Amino acid sequence: MFTSRITGLGKFLPERIVTNEELSALMDTSHDWIVERTGIHERRFVPKDSDEGTASMGVKAAEQAIARAGISKDDIDLIVFATLSPDYYFPGSGVLLQDLMGIGTCPALDVRNQCSGFVYSLSVADQFIKTGMYKNVLVVGSEYHSGGLDLTTRGRTVSVIFGDGAGAAVVSRSSESDKGILSTHLHSEGKHAKELSIIGPSTKKWIHDVFEDYDPNDMDYHPYMNGQLVFKNAVVRFSEVIRQALEANDLQPSDIDMLVPHQANLRIAQFVQKKFGLTDDQVYNNIMRYGNTTAASIPIALCEAWEEGKIKEGDHVMLAAFGSGFTWGSAMIRW
Ligand code: UT7
Repeated sequence: MFTSRITGLGKFLPERIVTNEELSALMDTSHDWIVERTGIHERRFVPKDSDEGTASMGVKAAEQAIARAGISKDDIDLIVFATLSPDYYFPGSGVLLQDLMGIGTCPALDVRNQCSGFVYSLSVADQFIKTGMYKNVLVVGSEYHSGGLDLTTRGRTVSVIFGDGAGAAVVSRSSESDKGILSTHLHSEGKHAKELSIIGPSTKKWIHDVFEDYDPNDMDYHPYMNGQLVFKNAVVRFSEVIRQALEANDLQPSDIDMLVPHQANLRIAQFVQKKFGLTDDQVYNNIMRYGNTTAASIPIALCEAWEEGKIKEGDHVMLAAFGSGFTWGSAMIRW
């Protein structure tokens, strides 16, 4: 029986900082509203004149993760790339990253599970390693939201929340049976698919229709979020899936050394913290600085927590995510 461990972490944030004040100049919002409702103070946007993209940001995070894992890019057996903002309609960003990094012909797989994309991807990596098929899997979460946000008052409920960035992890085969990814737990409920979505361009809204009849007021071309419904489901599902991971491993909330929740809204993370009676030292949040970076949020936060020395060998680290689909999941890791 093989076990899988995260052996390297990396992150990349575009250097352009966008403050709440900057957004307040573009739409009817305010620093106080955004901080009170979401906890966000600033986020990063890819600079407008840059040719940075989802795959290229992923490359920077991946290179750091691979270097920290002490392996070469040629040792990667599988690329799993999570994003809701791919460079192209097709092919996926995984093969673009492969090309940019000069990685040969290993398989590359895109995972489209939005905010829970990294947890889903980690689970995919874990299964391939535990079955003995692969030794080193590169898992990347990268998002380029800013170009698609409606930065007017019409889009303010969504656009003040999201930011750009990338995170990556190398997941490797290990012989230490008591450490590594102990379990992953995945769920989805498609009946809420449209409650957090962009409908077009797509096969429901073909690209030629966009050119011929483009109506800037057609909300199908903008991200839509039923914020209150998402919030209500998020707090329930986060709690369920964390409890599921604890029970599967016969652990108590007090055994969690670090919970890294998907950075959706600081209020959601605080609700979960309170529900499980966790201290501030047991939960890592960085939404204040980066906003919600969807599939990138957990690997960025995990990487930052590790860089700050808040995750140490032997620690129980819990990852948990919820988002569009609805999809949600958790991972229990012994570091
Ligand atoms: O990562 C994927 C998962 N996503 C999430 O988990 C997000 C979950 N949802 C949320 O985080 C929250 O629902 C939001 C942050 C999106 C919104 O917060 P809320 O407390 O649910 O606000 P609301 O939608 O109930 O809106 C309250 C008021 C409304 O005005 P009225 O009707 O009370 O006059 C909105 O029109 O705030 C208004 N509003 C804003 N005001 C200033 C909505 N967006 C803004 C804004 N600035 N950006």
